[in-house]
Amino acid sequence: MQTIHVDLGSHAYDVEIGNGILSQVGAKLRVLLPGVCKVAIISDSNVAPLYAAQLHDSLAVAGLPSELIVIEAGEQSKNMQVLSDVLEKIAVAGLSRSDVLVTLGGGVVGDLGGFAAASYMRGIAFVQVPTSLLAQIDSSVGGKVAVDLKSGKNLAGAFYQPKAVFIDTELLQSLPLRFLHDGLAEAIKYGCIKDKDLFIKLAGYVDGAELLDDAEYIVARCCEIKARIIEQDEFDMGLRALLNFGHTIGHAVEQYYSYGYYTHGEGVAIGMYQLTRRTEEMGLTLIGTAAKIAEVLQKYNLPMEADVEKRVLLATMERDKKKNGNSITLVILNDLGSGKLQKIYWQDITEYLG
Ligand code: GLY
Repeated sequence: MQTIHVDLGSHAYDVEIGNGILSQVGAKLRVLLPGVCKVAIISDSNVAPLYAAQLHDSLAVAGLPSELIVIEAGEQSKNMQVLSDVLEKIAVAGLSRSDVLVTLGGGVVGDLGGFAAASYMRGIAFVQVPTSLLAQIDSSVGGKVAVDLKSGKNLAGAFYQPKAVFIDTELLQSLPLRFLHDGLAEAIKYGCIKDKDLFIKLAGYVDGAELLDDAEYIVARCCEIKARIIEQDEFDMGLRALLNFGHTIGHAVEQYYSYGYYTHGEGVAIGMYQLTRRTEEMGLTLIGTAAKIAEVLQKYNLPMEADVEKRVLLATMERDKKKNGNSITLVILNDLGSGKLQKIYWQDITEYLG
């Protein structure tokens, strides 16, 4: 069992990581939030049949009655209508301001459930129990909660930190291989921007199965890297953008395929490799870095290129430019384990796309 403390002053919290922690959530909640009388569990149609009963029982043993609210699995559920339905169900379940919401699922459940917690009665406590690798090492930590609008992903949301994150690495055993690899792209990202040893470790496993034996270490190390970054920039005003390595091109690729072909991690994998290949050619990144990234991506069946024209990438990247005036901020690597933010004026951007 490992604990990563996220030091955010008055809303600091712990991320607890270990095999089998799901069955301890009730007891842990009792200690953490002694005033709680009722719990709403938000989960989805894939995860609830596997794990909701275990969570319910753990809460019941701790004397906490719970109401299960299940949304349809998939990104298409992350919208205002589903949020509104979830809020109604929380109200019907009779949760008060001193009660708690527990999200049990991947990124969609965590983001939507967290936003429901942030808005129900102007904010009630919530706890994240992420079940996918992507959610365990990224979206469950850091307090970004949101739903998508027709105009774009995550356009309605808040910064709203959970009271705790309980990560049961045993749950990764039931994750389909493609989604284990999806999360691994983000783990590779952490290695690229901050921890060469983590990158080397990820590159050294024979396959995903061997890596799962070390899941607790990997998840804890990724959460620790993220915690140290958000402690310095909770509201995403600067340094937090380091977590976006590979994401600018990745998002554009995902969007080009209407989020229906590449997973998020696959988009990030393409973005990490393509940008590093180019910055290496430009003399900004140590020679050989892109080849090492390619090797580890191939090991986990992650793509390195997508058939998207440069002008299409530019069109989708233009939204970032609008946010920042006439520039975008890219994350580039000096070397493995050493990422930095680089402001790039729009007129120079094509150079970075090769
Ligand atoms: N997923 C990136 C962040 O939390 O800022």
